[in-house]
Formats: sequence, C-alpha cells, structure tokens
Amino acid sequence: MAHSQKPRTMLTLFALVCAVVLAGCAAPQAASPTAPAAPTAPAAPAASGQVVNVYSARHYGTMESVFQRFTADTGIEVRLSQGSVQSLLERLKAEGSQTPADVFFSIDAGGLALAAEEGLLQPVESATLVESIPANLRDAQNRWFGLTQRVRTIVYNPAKVQPSELSTYEALADPQWKDRLCMRPASHVYTQSLVASMIANLGPEQAATVVQGWAANNPQFIDSDTRILETIAAGGCDVGITNHYYLGRELAKSADFPVKVFWANQNERGVHVNISGMGVTAAARNKDNAVKLIEWMATEGQGGDAESLPGGNHEFPANASATPHEIIAGFGSYKPDPIAISEYGRLQADAVKLMETAGYR
Ligand SMILES: [Fe+2]
Repeated sequence: MAHSQKPRTMLTLFALVCAVVLAGCAAPQAASPTAPAAPTAPAAPAASGQVVNVYSARHYGTMESVFQRFTADTGIEVRLSQGSVQSLLERLKAEGSQTPADVFFSIDAGGLALAAEEGLLQPVESATLVESIPANLRDAQNRWFGLTQRVRTIVYNPAKVQPSELSTYEALADPQWKDRLCMRPASHVYTQSLVASMIANLGPEQAATVVQGWAANNPQFIDSDTRILETIAAGGCDVGITNHYYLGRELAKSADFPVKVFWANQNERGVHVNISGMGVTAAARNKDNAVKLIEWMATEGQGGDAESLPGGNHEFPANASATPHEIIAGFGSYKPDPIAISEYGRLQADAVKLMETAGYR
C-alpha cells in the first residue's frame, strides 16, 4: 500500500515519546503536574488530509501498531501528545477552546470523570459505542468510554501463601498479614480508585477501618506495581495488590515467574476494575474523526494481539466479543465489581483524605 511515509513518521513519533516516558506506568501519575507538556508533534500529511489529535496518558509502546492499523483502515492520521493524566487535564483546562486536542485518552476512570466534570469533554451519540461498551464502563452521559479493563487484585507468592488463605481486600487488614504485605502508596491514582470503590461499597467508616488495618500491618510501600511483583517473587513480602497486567508482562518474559494472581472479593461484590478509555474534547475541531477513532478502538481495534487494543499490554478488552491475550486468558474468569467507575473520580478526594486520617501513607 502507498502509506509508507506515514508509518515511518508514526514510528519516529512513538520512539521519541517512548524514550521520554520509558519508566512507563510505574511512575506516579502526578509526577509532573506543572511541567510544560511537549507540543503536539507534527504529523506527516495524510493522503486524505484527515487527522485526529490525541492527548494520551497511555504510554505503552504497544499503542504504536494499533494507531498504525487505524490509520491504514481509515486514512485518518493520529497526532499524539503525551503526559500524565494530571498534566494533560491541566493542559486541557489551560488551553480551553484553543486546545488542539480532539481526544483525551486516560489510563484511569477518575481522570475521565474529572475531565467530564470540568466540562472538557462532550457527549457522543453513537449506537456503536453504546452496543460495544458495557454501561458500567462508560459515562452515563456518553462523554467517555472505557476501552480496556485493568483488574486491581491480590497477588501472592505460592511458596508462602495458600490461595485458601486469601479472600478479600478487607481481609488483608487482618493481623495475620502483619509485615507480609507490599502495597502501593496513597499518592498513586490506582490506590485512590481502589479506596474510592471501598468508600462507595462499604461506606466511609468501614472503609476507614479496613485502611487502618492495612496500615497497622506495616506494609512495604512500593510505588511501582512491577517492583511489588518483583519483591514478592524475591521473598520480600508474601502478598500484594497490583493491576493484573503487570503480572501478565512478567509471565510474558518468564512463564515461571513465581507470583500468582487471586481474584479478590469473588464471594462478595467482585474484584476492582478500572479502565483506560477515551472521550471527545469539548473543543474538538475534528469531532467526526475523534468519534471514528473511539468507535474503531471499541470494535475492530479490540483484541489480544499486538495490533489491537489492549493487545500486548495484557489488559482485558472492554468489548465482550473481543478475545483477550492468551496469558491473561489463563488467569481465569472473574466477577467484576459492578460499580459505576465514574464513582472513582467522584470519591477520589475523599479517598485521599481517608487514607491520610487512617495513617496509610
Ligand atoms: Fe499501569
């Protein structure tokens, strides 16, 4: 095909972006909220002249081939600007109606919910999206749509722990886990969303009791899910809480990686699920292309292979008809917490305050 110039440009763009953010998802999301964001990289002229500008907090190299396939399918060039959820939100706010962004691509539901609340996103009328994405994974007003599912659950060293000893997030507050836990700090958005879900499900008092119990168990606080897994594998702690795809990555590198996944709260509300997803900005100049991008990502673009979303990143597709990557398919099925994930954004500030009061750092 005659698109040889476009993929090369995309490769260069992604190489730059990936070099800057190689630390990837392990870095705290709020690492550089005030740092000036890189300018939107210029795209090669698409044969069609059609473009879509994406502000993306998703910085996995695996997105490169997915965007390339979208461009090949539709003739729409993807221009990518990258940053943390928080820095992109601040940039969208500062730019207002002048923003070049058509699409905001977040790695956390809280970020999308906050963007929607701030009036930075617009509703999208799309039967395709409503059919493709389950209601609990998208905004009730269709201002954003989850495209991948990331399950934050219990992981353990099978040489030290029997799965029969595990049950719920709440049970990790039991003194039997004293000095045995590895946990992500309160500063990270993943922890905040998990605690927000506990506030919504259990009420603030019971959630505070659980978080106090976690803190009383003197966990090792490690601000990287990958390092939590490595510490468990090395015998530094017995149990932790991480997103499932980090274990998928370790298993892709070594099938013998000695950490197992345990789906939490299966006899109760279900395991905590977050998303990465997209919304069309309120000021989008290429709205039709923006909607096409999200629809494509929710349908043809979904799958477990490297050219699809979530592809090589080992998340679960949001579209139930898509096949997950074989490594995470091996984790078995799980019952998700059916909570509307917009709650994570609504209760984020409460979660931060609760952890501070409970002594969870
Ligand atoms: Fe992550």
